[in-house]
Amino acid sequence: MPNSSLIDSYNRKLNYLRISITDRCNLKCMYCVPPDRIPKIPHKEILSYEEILRIVRVGVSLGVSKVRITGGEPLVRKGVYDFLEQLTQIEGLLDVSLTTNGVLLKDNIYKIKSTGIKRINISLDTLNPKKFQKIAGYDCFDQIWEGIELAQQIGFDPIKLNVVPLPGVNDDELTDFARLSFTHPFHIRFIEYMPMENLPMPTGRHLLAPEIKRRISILGELIPVEKNTTDGPAERFKFETALGEIGFIRPISRHFCNACNRLRLTASGQLRLCLLSDRQEDLKAALRKGCSDSQLAEIFIQAVRRKPSEHNLEADHPGKVLGQMCAIGG
Ligand code: 5AD
Repeated sequence: MPNSSLIDSYNRKLNYLRISITDRCNLKCMYCVPPDRIPKIPHKEILSYEEILRIVRVGVSLGVSKVRITGGEPLVRKGVYDFLEQLTQIEGLLDVSLTTNGVLLKDNIYKIKSTGIKRINISLDTLNPKKFQKIAGYDCFDQIWEGIELAQQIGFDPIKLNVVPLPGVNDDELTDFARLSFTHPFHIRFIEYMPMENLPMPTGRHLLAPEIKRRISILGELIPVEKNTTDGPAERFKFETALGEIGFIRPISRHFCNACNRLRLTASGQLRLCLLSDRQEDLKAALRKGCSDSQLAEIFIQAVRRKPSEHNLEADHPGKVLGQMCAIGG
């Protein structure tokens, strides 16, 4: 039985590890990749799959029960499907999911399925192919959409679509996204934009959940959906006759730090204690110095005690977070 040694100084039980397996991506979304491209992490500085699996096993022995694989774009890393298969087989790991931009979904969905992954999140910020090219830098909306439909047909459930609403860019599509939830069993999740290092807010002002709610309410009443204990921070709603759901992730307008159960492992092997704080622990250095599993476990436990109580991003004083979403994993 996994224990629960990962309890921080504020009595939060950290059982969810998000792992970025690469900082590489096949898109360059305006809110994620800085305009002057940051240097890529050299390959030898990126954790090997063996190293990641070892960290996960130690994490699971301490109480981690849920893992999400992110990037960059995780599906661009060579060998990812074998890795996912090994990951899903780790005893004690109850939930393994994947966040992808969907570009490689259509061609690989059966492979993903056979790894044992059941739940996927797809980042999709527009339903308009031309606008997709503007936001993401490449013309591949149709390919992504086909991948999403195929994923639905072969039984991935739920399929969550992550939308980062940006004023003047895609905020004219909020109701189109919300409408999708009537006809498809998708969970549409509006994520408030978080300002990151070297990346000025693309459009100058924030579009926060209350305003998004107000705008999509022209489609009907948003009925709250009861949360499961394993739910993430999304506030969940549903339109009465809809097949799918609407969720809001509100790192800015109502941060959920007091209920945070997350740790992050960056592509370069840093155990990051909060997405929006630079406190991190160098697990790669410890691993490569030859530490034992119990030493690694001790590093985990000590690091967790230093998890900050909360982040301090606010709409009026956004601040900037060091590090890049593409290397930390969102
Ligand atoms: N603010 C909010 N969300 C972001 N994501 C990437 N960068 C940002 C940002 N600056 C989202 C992506 C992805 C999720 C993991 O994080 O859309 O779906």
